[in-house]
Amino acid sequence: MKYNCPICSGPLALNSNGKQLCCAKNHQFDRAKQGYFNLLPVQHKKSKEPGDSKEMILARHDFLNADYYRPLADKLAQIVSEHQLGNATLLDLGCGEGYYSRQLRQALPQIDLYGMDISKAAVVKAAGQDKESQYCVASSDKIPLQDASVDAVLKVYAPAKDSELARVTSSHGLIISVMPGPRHLWQLREFIYDEVIEHNTQNTTFDGFDLTGSHQFSFTICPTDRHRSALLQMTPFAWKANLDQTKAIEAAHHLSIELDFVINCYKKQV
Ligand SMILES: C[S@@+](CC[C@H](N)C(=O)[O-])C[C@H]1O[C@@H](n2cnc3c(N)ncnc32)[C@H](O)[C@@H]1O
Ligand SMILES: [Zn+2]
Repeated sequence: MKYNCPICSGPLALNSNGKQLCCAKNHQFDRAKQGYFNLLPVQHKKSKEPGDSKEMILARHDFLNADYYRPLADKLAQIVSEHQLGNATLLDLGCGEGYYSRQLRQALPQIDLYGMDISKAAVVKAAGQDKESQYCVASSDKIPLQDASVDAVLKVYAPAKDSELARVTSSHGLIISVMPGPRHLWQLREFIYDEVIEHNTQNTTFDGFDLTGSHQFSFTICPTDRHRSALLQMTPFAWKANLDQTKAIEAAHHLSIELDFVINCYKKQV
């Protein structure tokens, strides 16, 4: 295991029964029954339940597991395999309920995969479904992984701190970042905004990394009524939409919705 202690930053070692992580200063972290570790000490929490709520996680789980985003997951697996990472260590930062981690694990079973999210509800769900990968509750502001221990970071709509990305990645480290493309969820946004404008997709930069590739990737889905509601619940539109708008979306049977993603790859500067 490549974990660092979130309190003193020393390396954590797994005890002989595999149920506890412990550092040289004797800070201890028990494995939860779903198999994950909670490496977010109370003193680092900015709210009682940081990250996505249980309701958002369940909506995302219901929606994603119907495979509407499968083409994106396949594309990510293809990008990872093109980088010939072999049995490299990959971190899914802000992994949510773990959909992309599971898809990557299936496509590339040899990778050493770590999933991390600040939402405990998300990690409970992710770890419960994937016993091969390592999951922990942690913040991207202080990633509890050892220096230079990660070969690739996958970041799908999740926050990150440049200095932490630079610290945990190895010398040939890679970041694969997914952001909404200009027309992402356009037909849902039409219900909510008087005038829908294209998302600005000006390339994000990460200190210490060079952009090496950018792919725009779009397709259209036609979710069932239940999944259209789940899609609304798992996005920030859930709070932006008023009651009338929510009802109108719920009544829009067979609505075709454009999905549009920008996938950027970055390589660590030498
Ligand atoms: C839009 S969701 C994306 C989840 C997942 N990557 C997916 O696409 O299904 C963003 C995720 O980032 C998590 N998150 C928010 N702030 C975080 C932080 N500081 N550190 C780690 N995760 C964070 C949320 O709990 C949520 O699960
Ligand atoms: Zn410690």
